[in-house]
Amino acid sequence: MRKHLLSIDDVSADDAATLFATAAEMHDVQHREVKKLPALRGRTVINLFFEDSTRTRSSFEIAGKWLSADTINITGKGSSASKGESLRDTVLTICAMGVDALVMRHAASGAAHQVSQWVDAAVVNAGDGTHEHPSQALLDAYTLQRRIGPLEGRHVAIVGDLTHSRVFRSNVKLLLKLGARVTAVAPPTLMPSGVTPWSQADGFALSWDLDEVLPTADAVMMLRVQKERMSGGFFPTPREYTVGYGLTRDRLGVLGPDVPICHPGPMNRGLEIAADAADAAQSVVLDQVSAGVAVRMAILYHLLAGEENA
Ligand code: CP
Repeated sequence: MRKHLLSIDDVSADDAATLFATAAEMHDVQHREVKKLPALRGRTVINLFFEDSTRTRSSFEIAGKWLSADTINITGKGSSASKGESLRDTVLTICAMGVDALVMRHAASGAAHQVSQWVDAAVVNAGDGTHEHPSQALLDAYTLQRRIGPLEGRHVAIVGDLTHSRVFRSNVKLLLKLGARVTAVAPPTLMPSGVTPWSQADGFALSWDLDEVLPTADAVMMLRVQKERMSGGFFPTPREYTVGYGLTRDRLGVLGPDVPICHPGPMNRGLEIAADAADAAQSVVLDQVSAGVAVRMAILYHLLAGEENA
């Protein structure tokens, strides 16, 4: 792996396979009485979150702690950023204390990339605006592989608010690298605009018709309607969104019982996903959360100790 994890562009298919193999070993730690490995003893990992998070921040913190790193959380609201300190001054100040890795989330697309130019520490992008969320895509693919086997040739439907989703962008890139076929399903107003290399790639398709796509899907990934990033009316009413694009109880009946249902969370129950689907036996939502710790342990391990411990 490269020095930083800023984008899925930093991860080759071989890198992903290596990370998944390490994550599988790390996953076992979750079931031990003593959840501690010495791999990152003496290393310091800072979680710097300028946007809210439950899963990503806590799983990176747990991952660091289980690898014996010293981990510290800093949030925008409780830091001197709220007094007007610039992002550059904030990260240079933190890194002057002797930091090995900076895991950061920021509302601005490209923020993690910019910070990686300023500091010596390894930078992990834990979500930058509507751009990317690479560790989420890695844990999603890891979860799917454990459930349905190799993703080569498998058809993954990604459904929801694609315009505002960094999870969508990272997932498309990674799933295509792993040989999966991806159909992106959204109302026209929530389709990502612009031509990107992946939108032209073999294996990638767009659809406005969820009911046409669902019967051929080997896995379904529902994405959150991100109301906080919407400045206008992207759909007439929540009810109409659910009728067109929600994974409702009726649509659950169309899916085979072995088709995993993913959602990166947090879920809008009753809007993009019905409770019946979120809580179905084939839902892997909590597997994703559990895998998040293992995959993030693997990421920190390979960025900070992988080469030397190998
Ligand atoms: N999936 C995800 O990034 O969740 P959080 O916002 O809770 O970290």
